Amino acid sequence: MNASRIVAGNWKMNKTLAEGLDLIREVCARKPATECLTIMATPYIHLAQASEMVSGHASYRIAAQDCSAHAGGAYTGEISAAMIASTGATHVIIGHSECRQYNPTSKAVLPRKIDQALAHGLTPIFCVGEMLSARDKNRHFAVVYAQLKQGLFHLSEDQWQKVIIAYEPVWAIGTGRTATAEQADEMHRYIRKRLAPVCGDYASRIPILYGGSVNPKNASHLFAQPNISGGLIGGASLKADDFVSLIEAMEGVLRNER
Ligand code: PGA
Repeated sequence: MNASRIVAGNWKMNKTLAEGLDLIREVCARKPATECLTIMATPYIHLAQASEMVSGHASYRIAAQDCSAHAGGAYTGEISAAMIASTGATHVIIGHSECRQYNPTSKAVLPRKIDQALAHGLTPIFCVGEMLSARDKNRHFAVVYAQLKQGLFHLSEDQWQKVIIAYEPVWAIGTGRTATAEQADEMHRYIRKRLAPVCGDYASRIPILYGGSVNPKNASHLFAQPNISGGLIGGASLKADDFVSLIEAMEGVLRNER
């Protein structure tokens, strides 16, 4: 299994407990082992049972979709990184554009969420991406750089090795309008270039996922781009057929690279 190539599903606020467990059961039955790392980011309520379910499948991991910036205490409704880790989940999405949009004050706490995740052994999947207005003004590189700087530039060299980045242009999320593979690769290349001063040679290897309307038709072309390590997938991760096709698209790319 190639752990630096990743297909990650982000279920968002979809699936009851029974529906979610059915989806995992079906995906794992059809693909008991995958050649890439396969992650499913479920709602909190699924985490413990989902983790248990994938525990016999070495290439699968379970992720949460957010975590608190606080270690614990009187924060009604929040879920700490320690709680997430205690379920057996291993990854957590941080800074998804929907969280940034619905809770704009949360931007400042993103580095603390990253720290909480790392302190509890979780791998953060840190999301960056510009709005359409920024791309139209040709400010997309500046926006993404500022987001990276704010969320991650305080990390030590060791900590960089435990982070995944996801580039998700907001205008491509759930809209059916995908960035072209060339646009996506261009941004991923830019991110690697800007990370080189802070994480050295590792900048060329750090996993950077593309997200935004990835589907079984466009996945192979996106995953084959030289700077794209995989995908963070919303809509197409909710049906076993589609999600399995995405995993197979990545496996096809890996075979072509061999
Ligand atoms: P989408 O969502 O694949 O439905 O566009 C991607 C995401 O928000 O992570």
